[in-house]
Amino acid sequence: MHVFLGITGASGAPYAARLLEALAAADCEIGICASRAGIEVLATELFADPALPRDETLARLLEHASGAARVYDPEDWSAPYASGSAKVDAYVICPCSMGTVGTIASGAMSNLVHRAASVALKEERRLVLMPRETPLSAIHLRNMLTLREAGATILFLAPGFYHGAETVENLVDFVVARALDLLGLEHALARRWGQS
Ligand SMILES: Cc1cc2nc3c(=O)[nH]c(=O)nc-3n(C[C@H](O)[C@H](O)[C@H](O)COP(=O)(O)O)c2cc1C
Repeated sequence: MHVFLGITGASGAPYAARLLEALAAADCEIGICASRAGIEVLATELFADPALPRDETLARLLEHASGAARVYDPEDWSAPYASGSAKVDAYVICPCSMGTVGTIASGAMSNLVHRAASVALKEERRLVLMPRETPLSAIHLRNMLTLREAGATILFLAPGFYHGAETVENLVDFVVARALDLLGLEHALARRWGQS
């Protein structure tokens, strides 16, 4: 399966790292694009250094992908994800900032993450957006409804606690498991309801 992973500047870098690891474990071909704010959040939340340079941040992130992912610049319009003619099975933005939600909902495309999402919608392909913000304004809620109505799936970064999570990793896996389910990928990250 060929998957685009967009990483933007919402809190939730551990979800992105775990999702990348799971996509690589599932033998996906992965293309990654991180916005400038996305890099800052990765550097802050995964490596405790908001000033870590872009290349170093991405190199450390890619350690989660066992070499299966390729990184694209936010302004790389020659990337396959910039066109509907490239064969891509699914697009995920994790984490997805309200800035990116608003831009995609408006139809604007100022970087490769926005463009890839827009391509997914126009080509009627699977697009999973994983936003995080709280509380939500009426503008945020309207933008998410617009995107849902246009065909995107909104998978909010809101883990459940009913499966007896004991660690932060369990909570991260809870959400990543739902993303993998939406992509149709097998996994054993979280116990399913009704299973002992
Ligand atoms: C450490 C950090 C955490 C942030 N957390 C959030 C968040 O949880 N949700 C959100 O919508 N924006 C958050 N922001 C603000 C966005 O990064 C900012 O609006 C940015 O312009 C989004 O740009 P992008 O969508 O191109 O990544 C955060 C920024 C930083 C630096």
